[in-house]
Amino acid sequence: MLSFEDAVGYNVNYVISEGGCFISQPIVQLQNVTKRIGKKTIINDLSLDLPVGEVFGFLGPNGAGKTTTIRMMVGLMSLTGGEIKIDGYSITKQYQKAIRNVGAIVENPEMYKYLSGYQNLIHFARMIPDISDERIEEVVKLVGLGSRIHDKVRTYSLGMRQRLGVAQAILHRPKLLILDEPTNGLDPAGIRELRDYLRQLAKDEGISIFVSSHLLAEMELMCDRVAIIQNGKLIDVRGIKQQGDDGAESRRFVFEVGNVVEAITVAAQLGQKAEADGQSAIAIEADRELVAKLNAAFVEAGVSVYGIRAQGKSLEDQFLEMTGGEQIV
Ligand SMILES: Nc1ncnc2c1ncn2[C@@H]1O[C@H](COP(=O)(O)OP(=O)(O)OP(=O)(O)O)[C@@H](O)[C@H]1O
Ligand SMILES: [Mg+2]
Repeated sequence: MLSFEDAVGYNVNYVISEGGCFISQPIVQLQNVTKRIGKKTIINDLSLDLPVGEVFGFLGPNGAGKTTTIRMMVGLMSLTGGEIKIDGYSITKQYQKAIRNVGAIVENPEMYKYLSGYQNLIHFARMIPDISDERIEEVVKLVGLGSRIHDKVRTYSLGMRQRLGVAQAILHRPKLLILDEPTNGLDPAGIRELRDYLRQLAKDEGISIFVSSHLLAEMELMCDRVAIIQNGKLIDVRGIKQQGDDGAESRRFVFEVGNVVEAITVAAQLGQKAEADGQSAIAIEADRELVAKLNAAFVEAGVSVYGIRAQGKSLEDQFLEMTGGEQIV
């Protein structure tokens, strides 16, 4: 398992070159953030850096403290201790400067159902200085609502409302978009769409995206990196392999075979070091391709293969183990 330092990659922290020139800083820094309500510690000494330009997932079971953290990040809730900086500005001490860089959907976005999506955007744009008509058009394109933007919001599906919400949130060109459980209530196709256009947004607008969820599978599809939180504490941060990398990773595989000694010899002929795993099985480090190759070689050499299984845990297993399942805490 990656350590926190490995996963976050402290090279993205304040990097000052020898000439003293400022290279990069995280778009969000949570520093020892603590929130207590009454006697209950809801967020406990949470520190986290979000690198610029990534889709960053905030994963935790129900009640873990995701919404509470997000509410503090957007200044809707005070901190008991610690500090939150957005693009280097303290959300508590430099609120205006910090919040200028943030677009967020925390609770359901406010929309007028009897106006069209477009009219909603115009209405919203009036409340923000310097939003041109061109920017509105641009945002409509970015979120892919197409001609439906001129239909009344009450005729929109949940996914379309979600898109309109994102359009509203990015009108003022924030550097950071924060979405609390945006996949809630979406069907698998809607989740896929959301993922695709969030990733597109990160790429086209160079926007960093912070998105919370209690579902690992969604996070894996959507994010470059995921922080896992439980009981208000950060328990892990890790990079997520994106599509196409699947199966490239080596894992330990166990082959149940008819003849262990023979199987080890065949593996050795392929340049692979296998070891006995009990009386009737061998274990070997392999990626997907090698598993297929080994299997073919065993069969060809007359070694019967009764079963092949991967050892070690999937990310999902690890998450469930770390968080104690999906139970509410
Ligand atoms: N105003 C409050 N007063 C007391 N406790 C609170 C308050 N707000 C949140 N909590 C508690 O803090 C914990 C974290 O809640 P939070 O809403 O941040 O969790 P979450 O990770 O967003 O969960 P979910 O996945 O269900 O949305 C919960 O135990 C919740 O009951
Ligand atoms: Mg929540």
